[in-house]
Amino acid sequence: MAFIVLENCIKCKYTDCVEVCPVDCFYEGPNFLVIHPDECIDCALCEPECPAEAILSEDEVPEDQVEFIELNAELSEVWPNITERKDPLPDADEQNGVPGKRDALER
Ligand code: SF4
Ligand code: F3S
Repeated sequence: MAFIVLENCIKCKYTDCVEVCPVDCFYEGPNFLVIHPDECIDCALCEPECPAEAILSEDEVPEDQVEFIELNAELSEVWPNITERKDPLPDADEQNGVPGKRDALER
């Protein structure tokens, strides 16, 4: 079991989550973050830190976002590690909560 970054992170990328992760298991793409499922220790510290409420435990992922479980596993193998908070993307507050951002995920 691991925690999963979901669709609403796309185009927001607040990065508050990385500050609290005790095992530094977040990885950064152009407009999305992912969690490495084999490194996550399931501590749940990151979930309440995300202003976009984009992090959930694997067993709580809604049915229409199950593909993000595989996306976190896949992209955390190729994207670089991120361990410090940075500024969110410029339109983060406008993009927070906008539905249908999946196709905007940049690799
Ligand atoms: Fe890191 Fe804990 Fe969140 Fe897993 S649940 S990504 S270990 S802060
Ligand atoms: Fe994304 Fe939320 Fe972290 S928007 S970068 S999962 S704080």
